[in-house]
Amino acid sequence: MRQFNAVDVIRAKRDRQALGVDQIDWVVDAYTRGVVADEQMSALAMAIYLNGMTGDETAAWTAAMIRSGETLSLASSRPTVDKHSTGGVGDKITLPLAPLVAACGAAVPQLSGRGLGHTGGTLDKLESISGWRAALSTDEIRAQLDSVGAVVCAATAGLAPADKKLYALRDVTGTVESIPLIASSIMSKKIAEGADALVLDVKFGSGAFMKTVADARDLASALVSIGVAHGVRTSALLTDMSVPLGRAVGNAVEVAESVAVLCGGGPADVVELTVALAREMLSLAGLSDVDPAAVLASGRAHETWARMIRAQGGDPDAPLPRPTHVHLVPAPASGVLTRLDAYAVGVAAWRLGAGRARKEDVVQAAAGVLCLAKPGERVTEGEPLLELHTDTPDAVAGALAALADAFEVGDSAPERTLVLETVRG
Ligand code: URA
Repeated sequence: MRQFNAVDVIRAKRDRQALGVDQIDWVVDAYTRGVVADEQMSALAMAIYLNGMTGDETAAWTAAMIRSGETLSLASSRPTVDKHSTGGVGDKITLPLAPLVAACGAAVPQLSGRGLGHTGGTLDKLESISGWRAALSTDEIRAQLDSVGAVVCAATAGLAPADKKLYALRDVTGTVESIPLIASSIMSKKIAEGADALVLDVKFGSGAFMKTVADARDLASALVSIGVAHGVRTSALLTDMSVPLGRAVGNAVEVAESVAVLCGGGPADVVELTVALAREMLSLAGLSDVDPAAVLASGRAHETWARMIRAQGGDPDAPLPRPTHVHLVPAPASGVLTRLDAYAVGVAAWRLGAGRARKEDVVQAAAGVLCLAKPGERVTEGEPLLELHTDTPDAVAGALAALADAFEVGDSAPERTLVLETVRG
C-alpha cells in the first residue's frame, strides 16, 4: 500500500480537493491501526463534513472500511435480503418484518444495533423477552438462517472495525451529520455482512437524523449508489418520522405491539410500513409473486417469529416486563389531536429509561411511552393522552419537560403520507 502523510491528506480535503483511492485506502487503514491519531482523523472528518466527498470518494471510503475487517458470507439456500433503517421513534419494524419476509421464502440476516440518544435499538427491545440472546457466532447465524430463515442479532465484532472507531470519534466531534460519512458508515457494515440485496428505510422528519425530505433523498441516493457499486441489489424507501410509528415507544411495549401486528392486528401505520418494506425486499430477492399482506394474515409470520425467538433462547410466550410506575398525561382540550412530535416522544421514552445516555448504560425493559391517541384521532379534555412507563419515578419530571410542546389539539390533522417515494438503483 502506498504511504502518505496524514497532514497532506487533511490539507487536501481542507482545500476542497478530491482524495484519491490510494490516499483513502491509506488513511482508513492507518487510522484503524492507530498510526493516524484521533486528532488527525477528527480534522479530516470535519473537513469532509464541511467540503463533502464525491461519489467516487464515498465509494472508495466505504470499500476501505469494509476491508478494515472481516466479511461474512451469509449465503443460504434461499435468497438473502436485509433491511436497514436510519433510525426513528417507535421504529420496531424489524421485529415483524424479519419473520414475515422469512415466511415469504427469503433468508433475512438482520445484524442490528443498540439505541443511543432518542432512537431505540432493536437489540434492546428484543432483550425484554425472557432468555433471548443477541450475541451469536457466525456459525449460529448461518444455521438459524437455514432452519428458521430469520436472525436478528448483534453484529460480530470483526465487522468494519474502522467504522466502529470512526463513528465513536464523529459522535464527540460534531461530524455525525455528513451524508458521505453516514452513507459509508451504514453501507460498510451492510456490505461486509454479505446479503444479496438490501432495502433501506430512510427516514425524514423531527424524529429522524435527516430533518428534511431533500436531505433524506440525498442520503438515499448516496446509499443506493454505494450498494449498486458493490453489486448489492439496493433500494430505499423515504418514510415519514415526524410522528412516532405505532402507539408504543420503548422496549417491551414495542415487542408487544410487534406481536400484535404478527397476530393480524396492531396499528395501521406499523402494518403499512412492514408490508411496504416486505414487498420491496421480496422484489429484490426475486420473490415478487408472494403477497406479504396475505402471509401476514395467514399467521405464518407469527409462527416464524416464535421459532426465531426460541432459536435464540427466548420464550415467546413469557409475559413481558411491566413497569413499577405509570404516569398519565391528560389531553389539554377536547377535539382532534393535530400534532404529536416524534422527537419529543423519543426523548421522553429515553429519559424514562428506555434508552441510554452513554454506551455502557443499562436500559429498562419496561420503560417507554404509550400514545393512547395519534394525530387525526379525537381526544377529550382531561382523559389520558400518553402513558409514561418507568421503574424510576424520579425520571417522570424530565420526560414531562421533554413533552411540554409535543402535542396540539385542534379541529383537523394534516394528511400524512407514510411512504413518500422509493429510490431504486
Ligand atoms: N447509522 C450508522 O450506522 N452510521 C452513521 O453514521 C449514522 C447512522
